[in-house]
Amino acid sequence: SPLRILVFGAALRAESANARLASLVARLVSDTGATVDLAAMRDFDMPLYDGDVETAEGLPNGALALRDRLEQSDAFVISSPEYNGSIPGLLKNAIDWVSRVQPQPFKTKHAMLVSASPSLVGGNRGLWALRVPLEHLGTRVYPDMFSLPNAYQAFAEDGTLADPGLQQRLTETVSAFLSLVEADVRYVCLERR
Ligand code: FNR
Repeated sequence: SPLRILVFGAALRAESANARLASLVARLVSDTGATVDLAAMRDFDMPLYDGDVETAEGLPNGALALRDRLEQSDAFVISSPEYNGSIPGLLKNAIDWVSRVQPQPFKTKHAMLVSASPSLVGGNRGLWALRVPLEHLGTRVYPDMFSLPNAYQAFAEDGTLADPGLQQRLTETVSAFLSLVEADVRYVCLERR
């Protein structure tokens, strides 16, 4: 059966550059024959983490919904903005809530990190910060990351990247990531036989 990949835009706003990048990655994933589940932060409404709320009410529905979509996927891609050189609080909050579920759904999943920013660095420092909680949780974070600089001017009308070199690099990174996931999923299937 085809790979199932969750592609997650980690910003709330409607005009999010990271939502556009997530859509482009979703298209590239789908071009390889894999099944895409395109998600956005607004699909997963949840309060700030509070241990008292967790004790009284359990996990919020938004966190359970994100858990479900992670569990249904073989791997995930996050497109995240960089806030003040780091991970947006909203995304960290979502990771913290979901990490409270047992079995912990980030463990052993493959992930690829991408970012978009109007800056010339493209949000890359935020991705290094995002590696920390994910790797702590046992996610296999793909070594190669993709950061899109100048993001408000970077997209062509058809949603691809106007710079052919950047478009090619993104396409190759997505395809290399999926090859790794495919090989690993197949290996795990063989091992279970
Ligand atoms: C930013 N932005 C930003 N950009 C960047 O490249 N490095 C940074 O450290 C920051 N810091 C930062 C902090 C806060 C609080 C905000 C709101 C924004 C700008 C950010 O990249 C820009 O708003 C992007 O457009 C956000 O991503 P979306 O919403 O377009 O996906």
